[in-house]
Amino acid sequence: MPDIRIRDLTMEYSSGGLMVRPFDHFELDLQTGDLALLLGASGCGKTTLLSMLASILTPTAGSIKVGDTEVTQLKGAELARYRRETVGVVFQGFNLIPSLTATENITVAMRFAGVDKKRARDRAEELLTMVGLEERMHHRPGKLSGGQQQRVAIARALALDPPLIVADEPTASLDYMQVDGVIRILRELAAPGRVVVIATHDDRLLPLADRVVELTPRHADETRPPERVELAAGQVLFRQGDPGDLVYEVDAGHIEIVQELADGGETVLALVDAGKYFGELAPMFGLRRSATARAGAGGPAVVTGYTMRDFRARRGEVAPSG
Ligand SMILES: Nc1ncnc2c1ncn2[C@@H]1O[C@H](COP(=O)(O)OP(=O)(O)O)[C@@H](O)[C@H]1O
Ligand SMILES: [Mg+2]
Repeated sequence: MPDIRIRDLTMEYSSGGLMVRPFDHFELDLQTGDLALLLGASGCGKTTLLSMLASILTPTAGSIKVGDTEVTQLKGAELARYRRETVGVVFQGFNLIPSLTATENITVAMRFAGVDKKRARDRAEELLTMVGLEERMHHRPGKLSGGQQQRVAIARALALDPPLIVADEPTASLDYMQVDGVIRILRELAAPGRVVVIATHDDRLLPLADRVVELTPRHADETRPPERVELAAGQVLFRQGDPGDLVYEVDAGHIEIVQELADGGETVLALVDAGKYFGELAPMFGLRRSATARAGAGGPAVVTGYTMRDFRARRGEVAPSG
């Protein structure tokens, strides 16, 4: 199966009374055989995207096609079959059942999917051998290293040979030696007929990837003309939760930086006077705005927005470009 085609995908959460929108008309195509890495800062939406691919979460709007299946429309028995047979999930924390051996952790999932006992057992042994755990089949998770547990989790995800594997930070809790084995297995999985999507901020995985999908585009290297904005008293420049690619200097008046609270109230975090700057975190780290910026109530304000690179050049931290 799958070529994966994501179109016009929007996902909104209400988080502590604030609207968070990690995906806003997002598009992505992946081809069969691809190993794709989703990269991005914590909170940018990696787990959300994997969950939507696995049909654990339904997006607010848009389309996710895996082969011929419109994943966002699945319901009832079809949805159960998709989750069981089409997609294999590898969780960050392994999610193994501690009281069961490696083999049993795999057979339980297969028995649940209706596979008979003998076949489930044979398949579990075949998979554990494939991930290099033939000597550890009858060990419980507590007797396995992190890397070994992760390999059991990968074997379990492969039990029904799903054409799509999603793995959430599969190397996050592994040391260098352990990562090696896991990387090799993940690489081998991405073969014709299968797509492997890995969410990570582990750059040790970069050489593996056929596709690297940056979910938080960094604006660090952009350069473009400054943007002058005149604000009336109290007028909002940007809102908490907005994406942000500019850092601002105050030319006149003053700017209030305000945290919006869940109960509708607010806290004023800072007053920024003429000559000072604000809003550098979002463009620097590819984050959304963590607070709202508006002109103070006392009068109008004028600000100028610079890209991070231009801002740093103004301050003499990097050579001007061009
Ligand atoms: N169940 C949820 N309810 C509300 N907000 C959520 C929920 N899950 C994730 N979010 C928000 O969605 C955004 C993306 O989260 P997530 O997908 O977990 O990012 P990542 O995996 O890249 O760290 C974050 O702002 C997070 O707070
Ligand atoms: Mg995550």
